[in-house]
Amino acid sequence: MDGSSVFMIEQNLLPFEFKIHEAKTYKDTCHAIRTMIVRGAGAIGAAAGFAMAQAFIENHPDGRCEIESTRPTAQTLFYAVKRVFDKAINSKYPKRAAFEEALAIANEDAQHCRLIGEHGEKLIKDGMNIETHCNAGWLAFVDWGSALSPVYAAARKGKNVFVYADETRPRGQGARLTAWELLNEGIPHKIIPDNAGAHLMSKGKIDIIIVGADRIAANGDTGNKIGTLEKAICAKEYGIPFYIAAPTSTIDKDCPTGKDIPIEERSDKEVLYQTGRDKEGTMREVLVCNPGSNAGNPAFDVTPAKYITGIITEKGIVKPENL
Ligand code: MRU
Repeated sequence: MDGSSVFMIEQNLLPFEFKIHEAKTYKDTCHAIRTMIVRGAGAIGAAAGFAMAQAFIENHPDGRCEIESTRPTAQTLFYAVKRVFDKAINSKYPKRAAFEEALAIANEDAQHCRLIGEHGEKLIKDGMNIETHCNAGWLAFVDWGSALSPVYAAARKGKNVFVYADETRPRGQGARLTAWELLNEGIPHKIIPDNAGAHLMSKGKIDIIIVGADRIAANGDTGNKIGTLEKAICAKEYGIPFYIAAPTSTIDKDCPTGKDIPIEERSDKEVLYQTGRDKEGTMREVLVCNPGSNAGNPAFDVTPAKYITGIITEKGIVKPENL
């Protein structure tokens, strides 16, 4: 416990560059969450837990408010901060207790995602085509991931699987991160535009859809990356099973229905500009929309429970109405 830095993969540079980012103070870790250096429900939760521990180590337990205001939608952020805060404030050795609790949360996240893989793998038959949205793989968690964990488990068991990764505008988590993970795992896949899903479903090209979750309300309504709702509605129309994969730390019992899930509105710059690498290998930000036009950027949507076939958790697969 000499140093109190938090180390994380700099996700904004992927897939072009792999770099580890060091956040030396709780404010640095807040900055990393806010700017999506670290992103994805479980990874945000783990980072926020460690930020809370850093705040205790820096004698600033009042930093809790700042940590909780970094991003509004992912329930795991609030779950982790509360757990670390409660543990430390009730301990004789708050700094050590905070650090140990943050570590326990991170380890649990990895363990729970591994179990999600074990349960979810049973839904995947040899030769299946799977569609996923956003990135809910090992970059988005401490390890394994939620939606991709069953896919990894199926592939490691020798099943032939093919993944359609939705591009996931505007940040491109599917095109940049899910595709990078799948390539590294040796899993055959294609990046598809966000608006291609319904077409592929209508042609019988998708056998199952598995996505992650940022917050699950008590009635099973699920908040996830913007665009998830459209996939769920289309899946229902074409009789395709639509699964949410998420650790139970994502469930917010204080949120009765999806209407209560806070939806983050992000900067319009994320829609108007795109960042990528030019032919010379230099990272550049370019305007991809009409100059002078404004853009809206709601980052999440809520899928009503009626569209969800089941929720894959570390404890097993449950119907949303039985949560
Ligand atoms: O990239 P983010 O942090 O804005 O998106 C959150 C997510 O990762 C997705 O909504 C994901 O599908 C939920 S599970 C990690």
